[in-house]
Amino acid sequence: MKQHVLITGASKGIGFALTKLFLEKGFAVTAASRRIQYADLQYSDFHSLALDLSDPSSIKRSVGEIKEKGIQFDILINNAGVGPDLNAVKPDTTTYHETFAVNTEGTVFFTEAMLPFIKKGGKIINISSKMGSVALCTGTDSPAYRMSKAALNMYTRILAEKYRGTFLVAALHPGWVRTTLSPTNIHGRLSPEQSAQGIYEFVNSDFETDTFWNVETGDFCEW
Ligand SMILES: NC(=O)c1ccc[n+]([C@@H]2O[C@H](COP(=O)([O-])OP(=O)(O)OC[C@H]3O[C@@H](n4cnc5c(N)ncnc54)[C@H](OP(=O)(O)O)[C@@H]3O)[C@@H](O)[C@H]2O)c1
Repeated sequence: MKQHVLITGASKGIGFALTKLFLEKGFAVTAASRRIQYADLQYSDFHSLALDLSDPSSIKRSVGEIKEKGIQFDILINNAGVGPDLNAVKPDTTTYHETFAVNTEGTVFFTEAMLPFIKKGGKIINISSKMGSVALCTGTDSPAYRMSKAALNMYTRILAEKYRGTFLVAALHPGWVRTTLSPTNIHGRLSPEQSAQGIYEFVNSDFETDTFWNVETGDFCEW
């Protein structure tokens, strides 16, 4: 039977490239995002799911849909993320709330609601960022983005410990990728497809739970 993966933030960027790659590799894919226009993905095992992580009622509705369909997932990839204060130097109330609503709060509560629908032995992958590493931090820019990803890393470690023996849990830095996450990402070193390939290889490797992995360098990342 095909393995089933749920990918959030699947409408563009890294998430869209991941969705295409997992489908090409023969997985069943549920692609979640606010916009659900996937006209060019003609696969029988492709499903789209409307999900706004910043809206608790949307999280409840989307998980309710999964429950109704009786789907059990092998892999959850929490890829959706925003960076409205990327490159800014001063914390700002609006962008702080926007960032935490999606990258942290929405991702945490979506994951908690999804736990009953992930198979025993399944994998939970949080697409974090090297910018969320407390150990490696030297920059002073992008305060909300950095803090939101540091919090996501902490959640990754809590999940890994709590569900040791049940799920494999990891955080990934996808590399500096040419997406629309911020205006400077146009200069990114990796294409979304290259990043997706590295993520795919990690997810399907024999990785240990509680790992923070840098997809661009192919090496561990310090928390
Ligand atoms: N690009 C990089 O260099 C880089 C580096 C480090 C980490 N990352 C991380 O990689 C992940 C993917 O980023 P990307 O570069 O591919 O960004 P992107 O091209 O901007 O895509 C972000 C995705 O998140 C979804 N999203 C945004 N707000 C959402 C919400 N409220 N609810 C549900 N989905 C939402 C978007 O879809 P809709 O707008 O349709 O909802 C979109 O599919 C993010 O977590 C990002 O922090 C990226």
